[in-house]
Amino acid sequence: MPVSEGSLAGRTAVVTGGSRGLGYAMAEALGRNGADLMLVDVLESVTDAAARLDAELPGAVAAQRCDVTEADQVAQVFARTADELGTATILVNAAGIAWNEPAIDVTAERFRTVLDVNVTGTFLPCQSFARAVVAAGLTGSVVNVASMSGMVVNLPQPQAAYNASKAAVSMLTASLAVEWLPLGIRVNAIAPGYFASDMTKSVSTTDPDMVDEWMRRTPAGRMGRPDELGPLVTYLCGDESAFVVGQTIVIDGGYTIV
Ligand SMILES: NC(=O)c1ccc[n+]([C@@H]2O[C@H](COP(=O)([O-])OP(=O)(O)OC[C@H]3O[C@@H](n4cnc5c(N)ncnc54)[C@H](O)[C@@H]3O)[C@@H](O)[C@H]2O)c1
Repeated sequence: MPVSEGSLAGRTAVVTGGSRGLGYAMAEALGRNGADLMLVDVLESVTDAAARLDAELPGAVAAQRCDVTEADQVAQVFARTADELGTATILVNAAGIAWNEPAIDVTAERFRTVLDVNVTGTFLPCQSFARAVVAAGLTGSVVNVASMSGMVVNLPQPQAAYNASKAAVSMLTASLAVEWLPLGIRVNAIAPGYFASDMTKSVSTTDPDMVDEWMRRTPAGRMGRPDELGPLVTYLCGDESAFVVGQTIVIDGGYTIV
C-alpha cells in the first residue's frame, strides 16, 4: 500500500470523534501527511486535543464541539471549516459509542441512541461534506469507521445494537459510494478489530477476563495500536487509492478469519 509522504498537503480533513482514541490517531496521521485538520467531538476536550496536535504538526489544526447526531451543528462544522481552513475534501467519521447490553434487556431508547450516534452520526457529516465539496466544485474522499462487529458477532460481550449499527455503516458506505462517485466523492470504510482506546479500556479495567478472551480469539494475540490505522486511513483518503470504492477494509489482527 504505497503512501507518498506529504501526499495530503494542501487538503483539509474533518475528523469526527477526534478528541481521543482512533479518531485522534487517524487525525494525527493525516496531519503528518500534510493535511490541515478540523477535529470534531462532543467532548470539550476536543480543544485540548487540537492544541496538542497543533503543536506537533506542520499544518493548521482547529477544533469544533459538535454532536454528530444534530444536523445543524454538523452543517456548522463544514461552514466554519470552509471559512477558516478551506473546504474540507477529506472526512473521517470516527465518532461512535459501544454499549454492552443483553438484547433481552436493552431499552428502546438506548437501542436507538446507539443507532443514532453510529449511523445517523456517520450519515450527517457525510451529507454536509458532500454538499460542501460539490458546491465548491471539488472532489473528495470519505473514510467511515465501521467495525469487524458489523461482519461477525464478536464474543463474549452482548452488543446487538452496536453490531447492527456497524453493519449499517458498511452498507451506508457502499450506498453513498455508488451515489457519489459520479460527483467525484469516494467513500470507503475501515473495520477495526480490537484496538486500545478509551472505548476498550473501560472493559479492560472492569473485566480483564473479557480482554483475555478477545486476545485468545485474535491470531495476532494483541490489541491493535491506534497509530497502526494511520497508513491505511492515509491511503484511503489520498489519490493513490482512486480505484478503491465503497469498500470496508478489515484491520483486525486476523480476528475475522478464524
Ligand atoms: N477501539 C476499538 O477496538 C474499536 C474497534 C472497532 C471500531 N471502533 C470504532 O472506532 C471509533 C472510535 O472509537 P474509539 O475506540 O476511539 O472510542 P473512543 O470512545 O475513545 O472515541 C470515540 C469518540 O467519539 C466521540 N463521540 C461519541 N458520541 C459522539 C457524538 N454524538 N458526537 C460527537 N462525538 C461523539 C467521543 O466523545 C469520543 O471522543 C468508533 O466509531 C468505534 O465504534 C473501535
